[in-house]
Amino acid sequence: MKNLIIDLKVHEDSRGKLIAIESMHDVPFSIKRTYYVFDTPENEVRGFHAHKALNQFLWSPTGGIEILMDDGNEKKVYVLDNAKSGLLVPCGYWHEMKWLSKEAILCVVASDYYVEEDYIRNYEEFKDHVVRGYWHGNQI
Ligand code: TYD
Repeated sequence: MKNLIIDLKVHEDSRGKLIAIESMHDVPFSIKRTYYVFDTPENEVRGFHAHKALNQFLWSPTGGIEILMDDGNEKKVYVLDNAKSGLLVPCGYWHEMKWLSKEAILCVVASDYYVEEDYIRNYEEFKDHVVRGYWHGNQI
């Protein structure tokens, strides 16, 4: 699996640190939506889906979140536990997010609006898409 971590540029001075995330500059897609997930209990796991076309970038500025990424052939676990880097979740990756602490906030920028039809929530259906090469040439 290719490296999906993106390190962000930190603007730091005596007043603190600032990070900006710009379309096509800091993440390799145009941003149409942002959302965040919070007040999730420790050890709770969310996600359990892949997207047909949506690309997303995830980070957790406080606490820790473990992300299982699965491209259908290989699985890799990433930990999001700082404000300075995040994880690219391109379309075609099954992902599961586990809260390591209840303070953790999952912040997301996404390439499109919320469209339920873009979700694949059944793992067998996901594997079927992988076998058919559905995402070939489609991933960023
Ligand atoms: P869900 O997909 O179950 O969250 P997760 O991927 O973390 O398991 O989404 C929870 C609810 O929020 C569901 O009713 C759909 C809604 N929702 C929106 O209305 N807009 C959004 O941008 C997202 C991501 C979810």
